[in-house]
Amino acid sequence: MLKIDFTPFSAVKAAGPGERKSGVLIAFAGEGLKMGAAAEKLLAPAKSAIDRAARAGKFKGAVGSSLDILAPQGLGWDRLVLVGCSPKEKKPLDFASLGGSAFARASGEGASVVFFDLPEAANADQTAQAALGAALRAYKFDKYQTKKKDENKTASQLTMAVSEPAAVKKAYGVVGGLAEGVTLARTLVNEPPNVLYPEEFAKRAQELSKLGVEVEVLDKKTMTRLGMGALLGVGQGSVRESRLVVMRWNGGAKTEKPVAFIGKGVCFDTGGISIKPAASMEDMKGDMAGAACVVGLMHSLAARKAKANVVGAIGLVENMPDGGAQRPGDIVKSMSGQTIEIINTDAEGRLVLADVLWYVQDRFKPKFMIDLATLTGAILVALGQEYAGLFSNDDDLSARLKQAGEETGEKVWRLPMGAVYDKMVDSKFADMKNTGGRHAGSITAAQFLQRFVNETPWAHLDIAGTGMGSPASDINQSWGSGWGVRLLDRLVRDFYEK
Ligand code: BES
Ligand code: MN
Ligand code: ZN
Repeated sequence: MLKIDFTPFSAVKAAGPGERKSGVLIAFAGEGLKMGAAAEKLLAPAKSAIDRAARAGKFKGAVGSSLDILAPQGLGWDRLVLVGCSPKEKKPLDFASLGGSAFARASGEGASVVFFDLPEAANADQTAQAALGAALRAYKFDKYQTKKKDENKTASQLTMAVSEPAAVKKAYGVVGGLAEGVTLARTLVNEPPNVLYPEEFAKRAQELSKLGVEVEVLDKKTMTRLGMGALLGVGQGSVRESRLVVMRWNGGAKTEKPVAFIGKGVCFDTGGISIKPAASMEDMKGDMAGAACVVGLMHSLAARKAKANVVGAIGLVENMPDGGAQRPGDIVKSMSGQTIEIINTDAEGRLVLADVLWYVQDRFKPKFMIDLATLTGAILVALGQEYAGLFSNDDDLSARLKQAGEETGEKVWRLPMGAVYDKMVDSKFADMKNTGGRHAGSITAAQFLQRFVNETPWAHLDIAGTGMGSPASDINQSWGSGWGVRLLDRLVRDFYEK
């Protein structure tokens, strides 16, 4: 994790030409090269050099642009980087992105200083978001590369000069756990499937107990006793045993109903007997991104001692095609008592979620349930990688998710549900079947899930497009993005904490 210090503006010395300073100084400049008052003052001795470099480099302070000035005359620093920014920026994501892009400029140079003075002064929370952005940008998953390349080195330490270090430090105390939660989720998604199978995943979730999270692990025997035939059917073709992990953070009042988050944790999805083609099958190590998000979220909430009661539940299985695997045509019985005809063993995520949703609803009577799942390739066809699909039986919960999505940039787009779609998963031989045919694949998957939700407000997020294989951004360069941790942390923070 990137180590970040906060120091006051005054601690960063202009350093005249006589006193050389190695490293990089980064400052923000908006339209017309407008800087904050402190930055203007610090850089005043180099003003003409900066103006000349900006003219020569056609740098106008646009967001996304930057200007590298080597040995600027009048300044002792070896390198000054101006990063474009807009005073219009307001959302947490905007500040996180600024922090991320600034870090990217600093990285590789050893100890660096970001002079975080915006033309329009940012408050402590916004500055902490910038620090979060830097920490997220710094994340790398290279533990299996035995030969590290020089050009891939990143700085492990960053000094941020701010106007009120104490206030920012306090604000980062709340946000720093979020950086850990997101990177934890990313790592779980990035880990190879021979390393991260259900039992090992459960072990990593158990580490949350260090933060005061109560963690229970249900094994195959317990799940059999509970009648979880849908979940267990998926795992039966694997030598790796299935697990269900229940995590509880009790930061709210004793009598307060919990909110619940549920994750699909298919540690590897071969498709089972309905086996997938070879192309890109390796990506199916990320088919547990929903579960990873829930673990990362629980970490974040516990780290900042969120004042809410929260249940996290993840169904962990491996979908493999051995002699014991389930077949198309099999009929399994879910914990709810409803029976399911297996049409395609590759539609396994909904089978896992069916039992976890039912279990959580039955045991915890939550205020709401939100599940996250890399559920359908069809959601990629519909929405690409920009939005996660949102399906819900509750308008208020949907509106809140939409708002949290806009704030954090982890955006959701609601798709319709209804009786006509529901009918598409009726079966000739059982209560329902596990696929709804070629049309509206993401919707029929959601309809299937809804059959395991009674009156509880519920939302399903299909993150097949957003949870893995993510395009690089200012705050993420990793294949596993940790998508959803910042979204749901924001949801809890804005709407469910007292
Ligand atoms: N894990 C996949 C969905 C997926 C696809 C996630 C691409 C990430 C990227 C899921 O289990 C699956 O195989 N779904 C099938 C359902 C179909 C058989 C009804 C699909 O989308 O093709
Ligand atoms: Mn599948
Ligand atoms: Zn899957």
